[in-house]
Amino acid sequence: MSETIGVGILGLGVVGSGVIKMIMENKESLYQKTGNHLSIERILVQDKAKERDIEIDSEVLTTDANDVLNHADIDIIIEVIGGVEEAKLHIQQALRNKKHVVTANKDLIALYGPELHQLAKQNGCDLLYEASVGGGIPIIRGLNDGLAADEIKEIMGIINGTTNYILTKMEESAVPFKEALADAQELGFAEADPTADIEGLDAARKMSILSRIAFSTNVKLSDIETNGINNLSLVDLEYGKQLGYTMKLIGLAKSNNGTIEISVQPTFIAKGHPLAGVKDEYNAVYVRGKSVGETMFYGPGAGSLPTATAIMSDVIEVAKNIQLGVNGKTIIEGPSKKGMTPPNEQYSQFFLRLHVKDEVGSFAHISQLFQDMDISFKRILQTPMKKQQSAEIILVTHHTSLENFMNAISKLQDMDVLRSIESYYRVEGEVEE
Ligand SMILES: NC(=O)c1ccc[n+]([C@@H]2O[C@H](COP(=O)([O-])OP(=O)(O)OC[C@H]3O[C@@H](n4cnc5c(N)ncnc54)[C@H](OP(=O)(O)O)[C@@H]3O)[C@@H](O)[C@H]2O)c1
Repeated sequence: MSETIGVGILGLGVVGSGVIKMIMENKESLYQKTGNHLSIERILVQDKAKERDIEIDSEVLTTDANDVLNHADIDIIIEVIGGVEEAKLHIQQALRNKKHVVTANKDLIALYGPELHQLAKQNGCDLLYEASVGGGIPIIRGLNDGLAADEIKEIMGIINGTTNYILTKMEESAVPFKEALADAQELGFAEADPTADIEGLDAARKMSILSRIAFSTNVKLSDIETNGINNLSLVDLEYGKQLGYTMKLIGLAKSNNGTIEISVQPTFIAKGHPLAGVKDEYNAVYVRGKSVGETMFYGPGAGSLPTATAIMSDVIEVAKNIQLGVNGKTIIEGPSKKGMTPPNEQYSQFFLRLHVKDEVGSFAHISQLFQDMDISFKRILQTPMKKQQSAEIILVTHHTSLENFMNAISKLQDMDVLRSIESYYRVEGEVEE
């Protein structure tokens, strides 16, 4: 068997440069781990003349994807150009040419993962994407291998570093959302167009990938209830803090008696919960299994070398599979389609902030409504707002179904004492009294 494995890379940006660096700097240990030398044959870029942070032989660079995808000496293609349609065409061509593919592209895998898996299998190739969720955190391998024997009950992820940085900044420095976003952009933690991050779409794509692995089900993005952080106010965060909670954008995937509940939404997390201490641009995925109990995977969710670490772990797996002659045989069998949990079976605690008329009996009316609907409170705060002759009420409920809570919200809207429903959020974890 050849002792050299040819590598082609599509893209030489933040992640591509990290990959090259790791291959160059770890030659000896990569050989020890795989029994092969890795040789970078061709790299696809848009602009060959562009100044780059790393030294690279310009002969290796090309602007023609076919030079990489059809190269006879390339065994593994690493896709790090990003985007969806073009990257998909490249990966399809690579697989048809019997080249193994490693990608960091969550958008592509969320949308076309099952279809590409099928193509990989037909061609006896590996298709791996550890870097697509959680950057340097080995969560996909953790679920596929480490926890493979367990029945996963729940996954809660802080899987978008941009929003976690913004929320930490808002909470710790009391700066409003827009200012915190501008700060994140200045530091390079948020893109010029931050829509996919702040509206929760990036996290939803990652949750669909994790759910596919953990629950063996294909979840459509449209099935994921997705809310971002762009409407969060400092007032809510301040009340949350007083009550012992911290706000996080949480991707939740839960197995409920054979159905799956999956959402991305701003959520108050009790201070004692393992996810509460995950700050700044860091990511973490909390996994609860039937046998293992609670586990948490924590680390940098992005960045050149952390993401390259995840990519290289996939490259090493492909190289080992080449040695053993088992490529394309590790693909998980096609996931089934499980039903989504209906709202009357999705249980949570809720935080609710209301403005009511500041008059005797207002709270009693509200309280009666919740009592009639079998919703009890674990925390209540009430503050008069003198100028507007209103009072602000903050409630944290005990567990109730989403359907029941939403019915209560709808009934509240018809009440004479109500001035406005300011906000409501899910709440996870128990605050120690
Ligand atoms: N950045 C992170 O921390 C991170 C973390 C996890 C996952 N990811 C994923 O990794 C992928 C790459 O991200 P990145 O941050 O490295 O992107 P990036 O810095 O923008 O780099 C993209 C690279 O691809 C090349 N490229 C883009 N479109 C191309 C095209 N049509 N034809 C040829 N070359 C093209 C660019 O060439 P030029 O250099 O010539 O412009 C550049 O080298 C994305 O899917 C991203 O979601 C990134």
